[in-house]
Amino acid sequence: MDLHMGRIAKVQEMMRSTAYDALLLGPTPNMFYFTALQTSPDERLQLLIIPAEGSPVALLPEMYLEKARSVLGELFRIESWSDETDPFKLAEAHISAIKGKCLAVDNTIRADHLISMMKVLPAAKFDSAGPLTEVLRARKDEEEIRLLHEAAKMADAVMARVQGQVKPGLRERDLVAIIEAEYKKVADDLSFKPIVASGPNAAQPHHSPGDRLLEAGDFVIIDCGAIHKGYCSDITRTFCLGRATDQMKDVYRAVKEANAAAFRALETNSSLSGAELDAVARRVISDAGYGPNFIHRLGHGIGLEVHEAPYLVEGNDLPLHQGAAFTIEPGIYLSGQFGVRIEDVAVITEDGPRFLTAFSRDLVEL
Ligand code: CO
Ligand code: CO
Repeated sequence: MDLHMGRIAKVQEMMRSTAYDALLLGPTPNMFYFTALQTSPDERLQLLIIPAEGSPVALLPEMYLEKARSVLGELFRIESWSDETDPFKLAEAHISAIKGKCLAVDNTIRADHLISMMKVLPAAKFDSAGPLTEVLRARKDEEEIRLLHEAAKMADAVMARVQGQVKPGLRERDLVAIIEAEYKKVADDLSFKPIVASGPNAAQPHHSPGDRLLEAGDFVIIDCGAIHKGYCSDITRTFCLGRATDQMKDVYRAVKEANAAAFRALETNSSLSGAELDAVARRVISDAGYGPNFIHRLGHGIGLEVHEAPYLVEGNDLPLHQGAAFTIEPGIYLSGQFGVRIEDVAVITEDGPRFLTAFSRDLVEL
């Protein structure tokens, strides 16, 4: 069966066993996952209706008709609407025709679109589609893993090229521009705006790069990633400009060991839960005396979105499984002084866990 037809059939089967009557998707990564169609999300309604039984329908602005016909082909019946008409009347007509009233709604569609649909369908029950879409997307197939690996190799290559350009006197934002230019040479796009955090700024995990000049004695955190054919990568390395102090070396060692310990734990048991894996890394950092300084979860799933299920965090007791792809990114942040984070993308294959990013995790003094 065709890849996308298979995914649609699977979600229809899930809906029938969970009492959802239809899945409503907007122009999001979910639309790409189920159809390969990619459009620009804006104020015009773009709605894919996948009923639990029967044929899916795509309601799209007329301007996307030609593209939709070539991509959606046999998958969807396509209905277009022109700018002079009210697309929510069309949505109402199609959704009312479905048996049942429980609608699973794509997580990241526009709120104004959802509110308009709620107004034209007052009797319907709207629920999050997360339990359907996240479960499917969290199991990557071989081709998806191959694309994630390609994206990870691009991140490795850029990190290698950037390492040689980290110099005292550069502003953080200059280094961001260098990273962006390097990704543009090799990847379709960047998976997010790169983070460059130097010196005391590196104590903030999501620092916004600014005018601070890099100087000798800084730890410089670089966090960035590629998009390749829709799939994301995400890597963080922390370089030292000049010589690291004993305390800097101690912190770096603990973060590196936490990253390695999480991977080893998966080698022993690749169906640990997200919470258990987080705890493994957290224990290493606590034992080194920096427990309160590891101020975020261990990692997040990665795929068509740079952050998606499964999350490696206390409270997520679902076991990881074959096809799960996620980051392992322990960090230690000492307010006003410095920070260290080492982030890799890992995937669980049928032969066990595998790191997709491979750039050296050793301390480098530039
Ligand atoms: Co990252
Ligand atoms: Co990340």
